[in-house]
Amino acid sequence: MSGRVAYVNGAYVPRAQAGISIEDRAVQFADSIYEVWGLRDGRFADEAGHFARLKRSLGELRIAAPMGEAALRHVLCEVARRNRVRDGLVYLQISRGAARRDHAFPDPAVAPTMIVTASRMDRRGLDARAEKGVAVITAPDIRWSRCDIKTTGLLPNALARQQAKESGAFEAWLVRDGVVTEACASNAWIVDSGGVIRTAPERENILRGVTRAAILKIAAERQMRVEERSFTIEEALAAREAFITSATAGALAVVRIDAHTIGDGAPGPVARALRAAYLEAAYREGAKAPSGR
Ligand code: PDD
Repeated sequence: MSGRVAYVNGAYVPRAQAGISIEDRAVQFADSIYEVWGLRDGRFADEAGHFARLKRSLGELRIAAPMGEAALRHVLCEVARRNRVRDGLVYLQISRGAARRDHAFPDPAVAPTMIVTASRMDRRGLDARAEKGVAVITAPDIRWSRCDIKTTGLLPNALARQQAKESGAFEAWLVRDGVVTEACASNAWIVDSGGVIRTAPERENILRGVTRAAILKIAAERQMRVEERSFTIEEALAAREAFITSATAGALAVVRIDAHTIGDGAPGPVARALRAAYLEAAYREGAKAPSGR
């Protein structure tokens, strides 16, 4: 099959014709969670970490897992294979299912709705961007208080990301009570003026990024000075370096925050070293996904 294919509730269907019910709770209430795996050279990055977080998100919202992990892994690989995606991402979404609109959970429970898609990413473009570093803006963090659950309720993230785009920036760093929590679709980091690598601690106000965990591990292994401690905007502006992490971007240097240049305006040594080490480790450990070629 040459067209793009999605998996929806047990069937592989042409993506253009794929759909779910208008009464799905993802549509009505964003009563749904998602996961994103990065794929590079046909390998899933940090595969186990994403499965663990998926299980946690489902558990927190009491949504039933539509299938076991082995079957799920098969579907993810199959969607990547059928779409011939070797460099890109695999997206999974699971909602509580479709039922007559009522805020309380359907009773009796209905089958969860599951969607999987795969998309190619321009890795070379991303690598070129990483060479230069990216700009971010700051925006108020107006999200709910359970950002640790990876739900599809992403309107505040979407609004801040649009503001970033209109400002010519790649991301928006979200600020609450004077400290940077994280970014719209990535975790936020600095190398502070004392040389300490810092990112916000794992509380309910941030997503526990799988890439974040991998970077923390790498930094600890290399005996770099690293602390899970929030930082203010002022600390960020005075930082030696800044960067973001996500499954799709890896570790990506930030060289401008609002109108301020960070360091000398080029990716610094820490961000560069962590990016290289992350890519090496994530894809070395990744399982080989069956390729469509
Ligand atoms: N975003 N914080 C937020 C709010 C995110 O949405 C993401 C991921 C991250 C980084 O998490 P991880 O390292 O596990 O990818 C942090 C994905 C890529 C997305 O929404 O597309």
